[in-house]
Amino acid sequence: MSTHRLVGVGVGPGDPDLITVKAIRVLQSADLVLLPTMDLNAVGRAEATVRAHVDHDRLRRLTFALNEREDRARREAAWDAAGQVVAEAFAGLATTVAFATIGDPNVYSTFSYLAATVGRLVPDVEVTTVPGITAMQHLAAESGVPLVEGEETLTLYPITAGLQGYREALRRSDTVVAYKGGRHLPRVVEVLRNEQRLDAAVIGSALGLPEQSVLPASAVDAELPYLSTVLAPPGARTRGGRL
Ligand SMILES: C[S@@+](CC[C@H](N)C(=O)[O-])C[C@H]1O[C@@H](n2cnc3c(N)ncnc32)[C@H](O)[C@@H]1O
Repeated sequence: MSTHRLVGVGVGPGDPDLITVKAIRVLQSADLVLLPTMDLNAVGRAEATVRAHVDHDRLRRLTFALNEREDRARREAAWDAAGQVVAEAFAGLATTVAFATIGDPNVYSTFSYLAATVGRLVPDVEVTTVPGITAMQHLAAESGVPLVEGEETLTLYPITAGLQGYREALRRSDTVVAYKGGRHLPRVVEVLRNEQRLDAAVIGSALGLPEQSVLPASAVDAELPYLSTVLAPPGARTRGGRL
């Protein structure tokens, strides 16, 4: 068994209460906890939740070009540097390094890039993840709109992949959740209107954070922050209608 363990720990969407008992246990016992941030001088979103539960100081901020899409070189340099930090921690005998990530580590998380980088630098590393509550689950809870019922299908779509694909997902799938759409929201709302999916749709921004807002999509006509999620359920639902 490898003595080098890297654990991606989901810490939920932002509300410190939405973290699992297992996540707290792993963070508390890790030799080193890495906290992704865009700015080393600022408390990142994952860090705020970690600090609410962890009482040791084996914490280290790590710059990650979290939503850097244009500058590929900068993004890759950040991943390489982060992988190097983990490799050095293992060389310094740390056995378990935890990486805290918002939501779930297997849903559009930078953790998978870090794990791939570390795997190249430390071939015997054992990589595991601890699931976390995702933003779409939190939005369903805050808005009172169930994600899926009975035989309904669910598509999770990143708006950065283009609005045509979003349109197709709305035609193909019952519920469609859109991530990464904050600055495209006026156009997202337009697509929902054209596809007759606007009335039941809701948008959650900064879920779990003090500035949280949850609104009907029909009330949104401006850009919102990157941390925004759109939940478009199928049209009218009747009790047990899709069983
Ligand atoms: C890189 S993905 C991270 C997803 C995350 N790993 C998860 O499991 O939910 C970033 C996207 O997740 C959504 N998101 C994450 N946290 C959020 C929050 N607190 N409020 C609203 N949306 C959030 C937004 O759509 C954002 O653009």
